[in-house]
Amino acid sequence: MRQRWGSRLGIIMAVAGSALGLGNFLRFPVQAAQNGGGAFMIPYFIALLFLGIPLMWIEWTLGRFGGGFEHSTAPGIFHSMWNKNRFIRYFGVIGIFGPLVIFIYYTYIESWLLAYSFFALSGKYAAATTQGAMKSFLSGFQGLEKNEFFGNIGTAYFFFLITFILNVSVIYYGIKSGIERLCKYAMPTLLVFAVIILIRVITLGAPNPEHPAWSIANGFGFLWNPDFSALKSAKTWLAAAGQIFFTLSVGIGVILTYASYLKKEDDVVLSGLTAVSTNEFAEVILGGSIIIPMAFAVFGPQEIQNIANSGSFNLSFITMPLIFEKLTGGVVFAFLWFVLLFLAGVTSSVSLAQPAVAFLEDEFEINRKRAAWIFGMVAFVLCQPAIFGLAYGVVDELDFWGGTFSLVLFGTIETILFAWVLGMDKAWEEIHTGADLSLPSFYKFIIKYVTPVFLLAILGFWVVQEGIPTLLMKNVPPENKSVVLAVRLMLVLIFAGLAAGVWLAWRKRMRPAAKEE
Ligand code: ALA
Repeated sequence: MRQRWGSRLGIIMAVAGSALGLGNFLRFPVQAAQNGGGAFMIPYFIALLFLGIPLMWIEWTLGRFGGGFEHSTAPGIFHSMWNKNRFIRYFGVIGIFGPLVIFIYYTYIESWLLAYSFFALSGKYAAATTQGAMKSFLSGFQGLEKNEFFGNIGTAYFFFLITFILNVSVIYYGIKSGIERLCKYAMPTLLVFAVIILIRVITLGAPNPEHPAWSIANGFGFLWNPDFSALKSAKTWLAAAGQIFFTLSVGIGVILTYASYLKKEDDVVLSGLTAVSTNEFAEVILGGSIIIPMAFAVFGPQEIQNIANSGSFNLSFITMPLIFEKLTGGVVFAFLWFVLLFLAGVTSSVSLAQPAVAFLEDEFEINRKRAAWIFGMVAFVLCQPAIFGLAYGVVDELDFWGGTFSLVLFGTIETILFAWVLGMDKAWEEIHTGADLSLPSFYKFIIKYVTPVFLLAILGFWVVQEGIPTLLMKNVPPENKSVVLAVRLMLVLIFAGLAAGVWLAWRKRMRPAAKEE
């Protein structure tokens, strides 16, 4: 029998859990600081209204629609929408490929958060009191260098194993007893932890008596004072759209899968909007108030520029532990911070695993537990290059194809299918089946014209600005080129393997029908 969500709150928490992740607390503030501060919110909200929210509704609706045909993943869902087209199901492969590729590096990074939660409590990094020392600590932990903190990658590998087993176990227990149960506990916990840290931030005043101007208030000013000149650059607009995709987990394929476990008459309009609102609260209010203002207050206006430009990873694993070291009760806050990020990570990574598992269940009639085992074994092997090839840019390469390119491409395909192949009248009716809220009719126009044009424009700009240079390995150091090529070969094989799976599944499906004829 088909799996179902236990409650409406359950699926909202699960979708919000998938959306709410490292992107909210780390990626968003860095993007805002680098792209015009408060002015970034203009393209950000435009992308939210015309891209993020419509895609969220499209994915909830398409997922529920596909579930009605016993399909939880894009190949089957696309086929159910356009069964005259023999090729469309192969486009759906992107919706399994993308999340699987993200999963194989995301889980590793997530495991660092678990490790750092322990390090915070045990005082393992307490001896590192400068940015340089904390960086060595991180490099030693990642196995990139031998130093006084770590002799090999063993500790990191140990935490990876725990994180990996945890993820696969959640999947093993299924939608209701695994994912829904996890999200029901993890989501409120992480939100409470974030609010506790936020309160600490607002009451920080000016923590450095020698520099009264290094205050939290000025830290908020640094992040939010608008620089409208940034709006003239296409980069700002692309960054905003990219952030919306990443943070809402749209275009990945996971929301389709989650929504496929809804019943036909379940609402998608209000539920989708509630998931978006929860994510936005966590991103703009909580994510936008913690790391950058804090880093400003502790390190001052000069250093914050370097910190903001050094990227989310450094902020999370180098700057934040140092900041907490300087605060009273810092050990506890550091622990809460890493646990909250870990919970945000795990509620996202289980959603990334589910499409591949659901594909095995639906299209090959493999039972859930066995599908989770198969997934676990394959994903475990695929994770190894991300772990051991970190120094050679493997994670960046996986992130580019799985976490950026696939999202924009898949989002564009599903929107066109929804608005133009299913057709806007039928699509509108599908959205509103069981809906607790009626959408304003101008959204019909937005979904039909504005969202696809917006997506095509982003795809075009993006292919020219980033896709082609990356494909040609313009920014890859010569010594890493062979590894990057090997990763690409692996990606091609994963895609081909999934496409072969679709071919086999449909061949099996067609056979009895052929006999009947
Ligand atoms: N949406 C997830 C995040 O923001 C992937 O981290």
